[in-house]
Amino acid sequence: MFIISWIYKKIVTIIHTIILYSLRFGPIPQHIAIIMDGNRRWAEKHHLDKKDGHASGYIKIEETLDWCEKLGVKAITVFAFSIDNFKRTESEVDALMKLAEDKFVNMLVKNSSLLDKHNCAVKVLGKWELLPDFVRNAATKVIEYSGKYNNMYMNFCFPYTATEEITQSIQKVVLHRINTNHDSETHEKTSILKDLEDNMYTKHCPPLDLVIRTSGERRLSDFLTWQSTSSAVFSFEQVLWPDFSLWNLFSDVLNYQRSYPEIKKYREQMKKLTERTERIEMSESTH
Ligand code: FPP
Ligand code: MG
Repeated sequence: MFIISWIYKKIVTIIHTIILYSLRFGPIPQHIAIIMDGNRRWAEKHHLDKKDGHASGYIKIEETLDWCEKLGVKAITVFAFSIDNFKRTESEVDALMKLAEDKFVNMLVKNSSLLDKHNCAVKVLGKWELLPDFVRNAATKVIEYSGKYNNMYMNFCFPYTATEEITQSIQKVVLHRINTNHDSETHEKTSILKDLEDNMYTKHCPPLDLVIRTSGERRLSDFLTWQSTSSAVFSFEQVLWPDFSLWNLFSDVLNYQRSYPEIKKYREQMKKLTERTERIEMSESTH
């Protein structure tokens, strides 16, 4: 029995390696975002509590991080908790906060952490003030500890909405411009677009290439609107998040690779257009 399960595991590992390496012949999305939907439906299907659905969802994050690292992806951004999710029942919100704390604490346990293995830095993106102190403290320790790693980023949007991200960016840019008297002759001029971009939570990441949403829903749900609006590829999967497999990731990356020539062309055009707009904006502001 032991031998059969050993052989089975070896075969699965070999198949996974073949899948991952075959994808590497094409362009690899450098930044993948995931709306991990369907944890509670998965729990219901398996006659489990909601919190077990979320816990299984977390296991899938670690597996996906592992696959993505082997593919050469530089950043993964997961929608771990929407600001709107605070409207869920108190017991579910509490369970999710406790789960997050547990996982952040676990990430610091030596040799058990994927962060060490993958040389991966963790970031928590969103409106921090809304998190309970115990989660913020645990998250701060992981962010500080993993700050030395530079192979890839694992971003947890927690608690996050794109509306809040864009609003806080506008607020910062406006305040900065008022405080530094942006129109004064001595001030170095920068374009508004660039300033806004610099204040987005994903500033440290490559441009967003691929957005995956599981569970059959085809909505963006206030997630990374700014980042996905120009040239990200969308992949909608029927599978519930805890059942997401390497086959799903394989088809999502293939989907990206099929769209890649168009995206590349579009991005080159956009770059030229942005440079032109910036030049016009600058020359208008100096006159
Ligand atoms: C969506 O499924 C999932 C969530 C709202 C929570 C996901 C969070 C984790 C997997 C763990 C987070 C961990 C850290 C470290 C931050 P759903 O609840 O909408 O399920 P449904 O669509 O079936 O109702
Ligand atoms: Mg849902």
